[in-house]
Amino acid sequence: MSAERDGIHAPGDMDPEAFRQEGHRIVDWLADYFKAPERFPVLAQVAPGDLVAALPASAPESPESFDAIFRDFESLVVPGITHWNHPGFFAYFAISGSGPGVLAEMLAAGLNVQAMLWRTSPAATELEQVALGWLRQLMHLPPSFEGVIYDTASIAVLHALAAAREAVVPDVRSKGLAGRTDLPRFRVYLSAHTHSSADKSVILLGLGQDAITHVPGDAYHAMRVDKLAEAIAADRKAGIVPLAVIATIGTTSSTAVDPVDAIADLCEAEGIWLHVDAAYAGVMAMMPEWREIFRGAERADTLVVNPHKWLFTPFDCSVLYCRRMDVLRQAFSLVAEYLKTTDASTVRNLMDTGIQLGRRFRALKLWMVLRYFGAEGIRARLEHHVALARHLAQWIDETDGWERMAPVPFSVVCFRCHPRGEDDEAALERRNQAIMNAVNRSGEAFLSHTKLDGHFVLRMAIGNLRTEQRHVRRAWTLLQEAAATV
Ligand SMILES: Cc1ncc(COP(=O)(O)O)c(C=O)c1O
Repeated sequence: MSAERDGIHAPGDMDPEAFRQEGHRIVDWLADYFKAPERFPVLAQVAPGDLVAALPASAPESPESFDAIFRDFESLVVPGITHWNHPGFFAYFAISGSGPGVLAEMLAAGLNVQAMLWRTSPAATELEQVALGWLRQLMHLPPSFEGVIYDTASIAVLHALAAAREAVVPDVRSKGLAGRTDLPRFRVYLSAHTHSSADKSVILLGLGQDAITHVPGDAYHAMRVDKLAEAIAADRKAGIVPLAVIATIGTTSSTAVDPVDAIADLCEAEGIWLHVDAAYAGVMAMMPEWREIFRGAERADTLVVNPHKWLFTPFDCSVLYCRRMDVLRQAFSLVAEYLKTTDASTVRNLMDTGIQLGRRFRALKLWMVLRYFGAEGIRARLEHHVALARHLAQWIDETDGWERMAPVPFSVVCFRCHPRGEDDEAALERRNQAIMNAVNRSGEAFLSHTKLDGHFVLRMAIGNLRTEQRHVRRAWTLLQEAAATV
C-alpha cells in the first residue's frame, strides 16, 4: 500500500524553491559583508548575557518564517560577532576564510557527507588524499608523509602524542597505563612557548603533567638544543623514558622558531618521536626564502599545519602529516561489526586515523582554495602579509617611546609602549593594557597580548586577505593616539 493511499506524508524539509530564494538572499548578504566588513566593529561591543537576554528561554512550538529568523540573525546575532574577516583583525592569529573556501563549505554542508569509511563517500576520502598530497609537495615534504585532516591542531597533537605513546608502549591499548609496575616513567619535552594544547594532550593521554619538561629557550624564545640534550641524558640516567619532543616553527606568542634540524638529529640519535608544530607558520615552507627554517621538518614523525590559520581556508581545517601512519592506525583503528566492509584491505577508511568516527568533508574547501588561488597566488598573499608586518616593525623601531620585543620571522609583531625612564614593570603592564583596551574599544582594530620573559607585550598578527597597508597604518595611529592619552 503506498504511503499516499495510506495517508502518511513526510513533514519534509524546506521547500526547494524557498531554499533557492533564501539561499540567494544569504549569498547576497555574504557578498555585501565581504565587500565591507568594516561597517561592523571588529571586536563585538556587547556585554556578557546580552544575547541570552534578547532570545526566548525556550524553543518555539510552532514553525517560524525564515524571514523572521534571518531578521533576528541580523539584529541580534550579528552585533555579538567579533569579525575575524575584518581587515583590522590583528589578534591571536589573524586568520581569514576566503570566497572559494566559503563556497566550498556551502557545498560540503549541502552534501552533508560523512566520510568515516571510503564507501560512505569515496570522493571525500580521495579528495583528502589528493589535496593533502598537493599541500605536502608545496611544503617540500617527502612522500613518506601521509596526511589526515582533523578539526584543529589541538586534536592533531593529541593524535601525534597518542601515536608516540603507542610506539613506546605497544600494549597500551589492551593494558592502559594505570597501576602498571612494569612501565617506567615517561617524559615529553616542550619549550616554554609550546602551545598549551600539548599540555592538555599529555593530561588526556594519562601521562600526567609531571611528565612534561619545559626546555629553556634562548634570547629569542627558541628551544635550546643543548638544554634538551641535557634533560634527555638526565632522564635516561634516572630511568625515565623519553616519549616525544615537540618543536615549534612559529610559536603562538612570538612566532619563534625552534632549531628543528638540530632537534631532529637528537631525536633520531635517541630514537624519540618528533612532532613539529607548524600550525601557524607551516605554509611558509612554500616560500623559497623560508625553506632553511624548515630544514629537518622532513625528519619529523608528525607535523601539523593549519590551513585555517594562514591558508585562507575557513575554520576548521588542520592537517597532520605522519611518517608512521601505521603506528597511528594501530593506536586508533577499531572496527565494530556494523562498520566492517569487504573492501577494507583495498581502501583507506578515514575512521582508522583518529578518535572520531564521523568526519566532515573538509578536504573540499582546501582543494578549492588551492586551485582557486594557485600556489603562485598563495605565495603572493603570504608575501604581502610579511611585507606589512615588516613595515609595522620598522615604524615601531623608528618611534621614540616604543620598543619591539621579538624578531619578526613571519607576520606577527610583538612590541610595547615604553616611555623613556619608565622602567617599573607593573606600570608598563598597566599602560600597555590600557592602550590595548582603548584600541580594541575603537572597533577599528583588534589586537591581543602575551608575556615574553615576564614583560607584558602587545601582539599584532597580520594574515587577513582583506588587510592592506592603510589598515596597519591606522592601527599604528590608534596605538599612538591611545598612548598619548593613557
Ligand atoms: C603554534 C600553535 N599550535 C597549536 C595551536 C592550536 O591550534 P587550534 O586552534 O587549531 O587547536 C595554536 C593556536 O593558535 C598555535 O598557535
